[in-house]
Amino acid sequence: MWRRIASVNDLAPGQCCEIVIDDHVIALFNVAGEFFALDGICPHQGGPLGKGTLQGCVVTCPWHGWQFDVRTGQHQASAALSHPAFPTKVEEEVVWVRVPEA
Ligand code: FES
Repeated sequence: MWRRIASVNDLAPGQCCEIVIDDHVIALFNVAGEFFALDGICPHQGGPLGKGTLQGCVVTCPWHGWQFDVRTGQHQASAALSHPAFPTKVEEEVVWVRVPEA
């Protein structure tokens, strides 16, 4: 279901944050004005991806440095590992994310 997650002005380009919606921890990223969302729990040991460092379209987990392409969830060192990415859209300055049904 689509859920309102932020206003476009809440997150500057190059920034990321963590937002909890229902049972989902979402990592939200602003890449040059385009918004992307990943499952916010790092698949390594549960680190907070939304509190990581965003460089271009790659986020680095703050705990042990695993890196993911925020557009797709693709791990940067392992082709076999892809982290869940959620669709986003912007309507009238509001950022929406489509999260799985609970
Ligand atoms: S918990 Fe993210 S790299 Fe270890």
